[in-house]
Amino acid sequence: MALLYTSDPERGRIWRAIFADEAPDIGFVDPSESYDPASIRYLAAWAPSAALIDSLPNLDLLFSIGAGIDQFNMDALPPHVRVVRMIEPGIVAGMVEYATMAVLALHRNLIDYGIARKHARWTPIKLVSAGERRIGVMGLGNLGQAVLGALRPFGFPLSGWSRSARAIDGVDCHAGEAALPGFLAGCDILICLLPLTVETRGILCRDTLSQLPRGAALINVGRGGHLVEQDLLSLLDDGHLSGAVLDVTEPEPLPTGHPFWTHPRILLTPHVASMTRPDGAARALIANIRRFADGQPMHGEVARDRGY
Ligand code: NAP
Ligand code: GLV
Repeated sequence: MALLYTSDPERGRIWRAIFADEAPDIGFVDPSESYDPASIRYLAAWAPSAALIDSLPNLDLLFSIGAGIDQFNMDALPPHVRVVRMIEPGIVAGMVEYATMAVLALHRNLIDYGIARKHARWTPIKLVSAGERRIGVMGLGNLGQAVLGALRPFGFPLSGWSRSARAIDGVDCHAGEAALPGFLAGCDILICLLPLTVETRGILCRDTLSQLPRGAALINVGRGGHLVEQDLLSLLDDGHLSGAVLDVTEPEPLPTGHPFWTHPRILLTPHVASMTRPDGAARALIANIRRFADGQPMHGEVARDRGY
């Protein structure tokens, strides 16, 4: 019984040491060494090829190296294989830092000051208090809830939107498609922390973004596929939106010459909002393999038919 690890070799050395110390009963192999494919019951990967999946006749669990699982080709996966996304503290900590940084940058007009600076213009903008800046988060899962928790002490009015109804202290929660317009109308800064699924692809489009109040701004830390790029560009150019912080694009890397590289009202980062920490990830996997072996529910198991 072994885990096949197919991600970054340097991080793999940390995983290997933790498996050796804390779970010596679970074999740990990577593609650089020879292994018996029949011994592999667990696979930890970002985007495994169909050929790799086919070569593992006894695979039970596919673990994503990251929080998202949209990069998996589910059609290549036998129906009995269970899929688990990554839940570990490093991903949450990174996302909380990034989302807070992005909210504060937008709230304190850094995009406008960046433009003014290019023209050597010293033009103070009237301060808006945090209590007057409404922040909304799409996706109230592991990350959305952590981000809302970090924003609460600033005093921003907070709201959130999810598929099923949620109750979160201090957050005005909305659920389902029918509640989306009411939610959007109350967001001065909208943060997308949805998983990419058939239902959420293209959800940040002209129809939804134009329901935000005039002058609102977007933070997309979900996936590039959530955003209809041309719609964002035209809403920025006609002034309906005042700015966007984008950590994800489709495709990645963003092609040379793409307008997002140079748009004055876009702050762009190369998919770095959060990164899986190898120590937290190895321990999360060991705990889930133990739960699986004991017939207990695993943390972060994905409903394959739902896509998240
Ligand atoms: P999660 O715990 O699975 O939470 C997903 C949330 O989205 C849930 O609240 C869910 O609603 C909601 N949702 C899903 N489909 C929906 C729909 N059709 N309509 C409304 N709400 C919907 O996921 P997570 O761990 O927070 O991660 C979220 C995403 O963040 C990941 O999938 C990944 O794409 C992205 N991410 C990005 C980075 C980065 O570096 N940029 C890093 C990590 C993760 P329910 O509550 O009703 O289930
Ligand atoms: C990164 O985007 C992740 O899904 O962890």
